[in-house]
This record gives sequence, C-alpha cells and structure tokens, in this order.
Amino acid sequence: MKATPSAALLRKGRLSPYLFTLLAFILFVTILYGEDFSCTIGGQFEDYRPYRSLSSATKKKGEKLAFAVGEAESGCDVFSGRWVWDETRPLYDESDCPYIQPQLTCREHGRPDTDYQHWRWQPHACSLPSFNATLILESLRGKRMMFVGDSLNRGQFVSMVCLVHKLIPDHAKSMITNGSLTVFTAKDYNATIEFYWAPFLMESNSDDAIVHRISDRLVRKGSINKHGKYWKGVDIMVFNTYLWWMTGIKFKILQGSFDDVDKDIAEVPTEEAYRMAMKSMVRWAKKNMDPSKTRVFFTSMSPTHAKSGDWGGDGKGNCYNETNMIEDANYWGSDCRKNVMNVIGEVFRKSRYPITFLNITQLSSYRKDAHTSIYKKQWGPLTPEQLANPVSYADCVHWCLPGLQDTWNELLFAKLFYP
Ligand SMILES: *[C@@H]1O[C@H](CO)[C@@H](O)[C@H](O)[C@H]1NC(C)=O
Ligand SMILES: *[C@@H]1O[C@H](CO)[C@@H](O)[C@H](O)[C@H]1NC(C)=O
Ligand SMILES: *[C@@H]1O[C@H](CO)[C@@H](O)[C@H](O)[C@H]1NC(C)=O
Ligand SMILES: *[C@@H]1O[C@H](CO)[C@@H](O)[C@H](O)[C@H]1NC(C)=O
Ligand SMILES: *[C@@H]1O[C@H](CO)[C@@H](O)[C@H](O)[C@H]1NC(C)=O
Repeated sequence: MKATPSAALLRKGRLSPYLFTLLAFILFVTILYGEDFSCTIGGQFEDYRPYRSLSSATKKKGEKLAFAVGEAESGCDVFSGRWVWDETRPLYDESDCPYIQPQLTCREHGRPDTDYQHWRWQPHACSLPSFNATLILESLRGKRMMFVGDSLNRGQFVSMVCLVHKLIPDHAKSMITNGSLTVFTAKDYNATIEFYWAPFLMESNSDDAIVHRISDRLVRKGSINKHGKYWKGVDIMVFNTYLWWMTGIKFKILQGSFDDVDKDIAEVPTEEAYRMAMKSMVRWAKKNMDPSKTRVFFTSMSPTHAKSGDWGGDGKGNCYNETNMIEDANYWGSDCRKNVMNVIGEVFRKSRYPITFLNITQLSSYRKDAHTSIYKKQWGPLTPEQLANPVSYADCVHWCLPGLQDTWNELLFAKLFYP
C-alpha cells in the first residue's frame, strides 16, 4: 500500500499535538522534581542513593589506569572512616608555605588554637598511603596537573603546592597568576600545577578572577569551551563546582551570547542548570582527555557550617569559636547537598568516561573546627558592630591551611596512584 502524501501529512498533523502534550508533561514533571532542589519539600531524601558503584565504574577489571603504581586494598572505601589525632601533623607549617593566600592563613591572622591541624583521616577498612611528594613530582615530569573551579578548589590547589614545594629549591620554582590562570612551575621537572578560576566551569558573568561577586548570576548554555580551551593538554585534571549554583530554586541560563543586546534568558530549576554543567564537563573530558594517558577527578561538595543549630548549638552561632569537630558519625547538616549528590551520581553513572569521584563531603562535614572563621585577611575595615559580634563576619565556607584540604589531597594521591 502506498500512502498518499496528504495522508502522511495528516498523520504528522495528528501526531504533533500529542507530542506537544507529552513534552509539556515532561517539562511539568521536570519543574516539579526540580522544586526539591531547594529542600523546601520534606521527605525527599529517601531517594538518595550513595553511589558506591561510581568508584568501580572508574576502573574496569584488569585495566591499569594512567599514573597507577599500585592497587587499592580491595573493598576499602577510603571516604568512609573517622578522624584520628596525629601528633606528627600538620604535613607542613603555615609559615613554611609562602603560597597560601591571606584568606586562608589562620594562624597569621590570630587563630589561637592549633588542634584543627592535627587530625588525620583514617578509613575504616584500610590505611591511606602516605603522601609522597617525590612521587607526585616525578610523575609530573613534563606534565601538567590542573585544578578548575571555585575558591574551594583554589584552596585544594594551594594545599597541593604546599605539600610538594619543599622539595624544590627557591630558584627552581615560581608561581604566576595571569587572569583566571595561576601556574606553579617546578622548573627542573618541567612540571606545572595550575589553577583555573571558573566557578561554574561554563562561561558566566562571575568569571572575572578578581571582581566576581555578582548577585544576579548568569551562566551561558553550551559554553564549556570558552574556558575549556585553556585546559587542553592537561594530564591530571581536578574539577569542582557547587556553591555558586546555590542561590535558590531557580537559576538563570543565557541561551545566546553575553554580547546580545536583548539577552535570551531562561529560568530553570537549579538542579537542571547544575545537571547541564555536569554533562558539559563530562562531554569536555570525553572529547579532550585520553583516558589511557590522563586522569580526571571531580571533588564533591564542600560543606559549610553557617548555622550552629544544625549540630545542636543554640542556633545563633556558626563556625566561629568552634575548636572541636562534630562527633556524630551520621551528621550531615541541613543544606541541599544530597540533591546535588544525586545529580552528580546520575550524570556520572550514565557516562562511560572514567571520572574519579573524590567524595570529601561527609568527612568534611564533621569539621566545623576547620574553617577560617574570623582568622583571615579582612578586605575592608570592620565596623564596630562587626567587631562586637564576630559571628557576623566569620567565614564558614573556606578552610584554614594547613588543615582539612591537605586530607583532600591525600585522598587524591591515594586515588591517583592506588586506584
Ligand atoms: C560519600 O562518603 C560517605 C561516607 O562514607 C558515604 O556515606 C556516602 O554515601 C558517599 N557518597 C557517595 C556518593 O559515594
Ligand atoms: C616516594 O616516591 C619515590 C619515587 O617513586 C620513591 O623513590 C620513594 O621511595 C618514595 N618514598 C617513600 C617514603 O615511600
Ligand atoms: C615540558 O612539558 C610540556 C608539557 O607541560 C611539554 O609539552 C614539553 O615538551 C616539555 N618540554 C621538555 C623539554 O620536556
Ligand atoms: C596573560 O594571558 C594572556 C591571554 O592568554 C596573554 O595574551 C598574555 O601574554 C599573558 N600575560 C603574561 C604576562 O603572561
Ligand atoms: C568561645 O567558646 C568558649 C568555650 O567553648 C567560651 O567559653 C567562650 O565564651 C566563647 N567565646 C565567645 C566569644 O563566644
């Protein structure tokens, strides 16, 4: 039987209203689902599945990952453990690392206690390999390691530099910042450890490395190459992105260009916007990084400690004056990190590209004692009101160095060399 053109047209014509309805329904469900990103709807967390499978997804049987020198103890989840006191810590002294930005030098800015520097992460089922700076530098000969993301990733980058720089004499190393890119060079090794500022990974209106405090945040769809072109040729990549997305239940996405006079802006559920960025990142890695020669990591959400009510305090406080960690092993906190975890898990599970997940969220969530609080360079003079109430200007987002973020790098070390 031969369908006449008009019959075919008619069939098409009948289909489209149906398709339209279906699309509208999908959109509706997406929006509904997106709402729980804001954590305003209770009881959504049962859906949270810890994606242990992720770590196995990064390595197929018998396959040797680039940079591996050994194997992990089988069945050991290095992210599941506890903090133990270690008199031999910290791994370096604050005053011995000139690269720490004044935002993170807590002792220099008057922090009186030092206990926060002495904790070591002890996995339940094995021990972490000890951090070997020589191994890092030898492995980086003629190579580049890069951290891409926000100020928390910059902290991890600086920690990494602090952990290795002592092996290099002064004349053979340098640290240079040019715009979004900061490069630490170990000349004799022809090796670099770099940081690239891109808080959303994609192009945004917060991309200026210095002036980026923009309240009305806008990210451009399909723009990962805007920054990604500066990441090509990297051998070990460490991404993060999280906190900058957390402005509410909706997020603004630019469809065209930042130069358009009439900007085409769509407001989407934050979860959708974040998923878009994660997918773009995976796609970029797939296209630009050869998994047989390189490694890609993603550092999970860095927790904040802005409400003491979360850990049984009076609710008026935050991380200020906290010198002990949270003892409750099940502590999680009140923010939306589980929803974000779900999105990350979903995107990574669907991708065949091996990205190693650095699950630092839970182990960091105990560490209300490890933030910079008021012990950092203040960019403007403090008002008498602020001085009278230190809680009001404590930074409960960033972490003192040396400190917690050195542990993130010990975990990176473990996953890089003993995957
Ligand atoms: C991260 O680690 C914590 C502590 O072991 C665990 O409870 C959580 O399920 C892990 N998350 C993922 C996504 O693997
Ligand atoms: C650190 O790594 C180097 C280079 O692989 C190796 O020669 C050295 O023995 C290691 N040091 C320790 C203490 O394991
Ligand atoms: C130095 O390292 C870069 C990669 O970062 C590489 O392209 C270059 O060939 C290396 N130079 C030498 C002399 O090994
Ligand atoms: C900084 O980066 C820009 C753009 O990549 C480049 O044109 C310029 O030469 C760099 N400046 C320095 C001092 O390296
Ligand atoms: C800080 O904590 C200590 C002990 O927990 C307490 O005695 C002191 O009053 C607190 N200081 C401020 C300014 O809250």
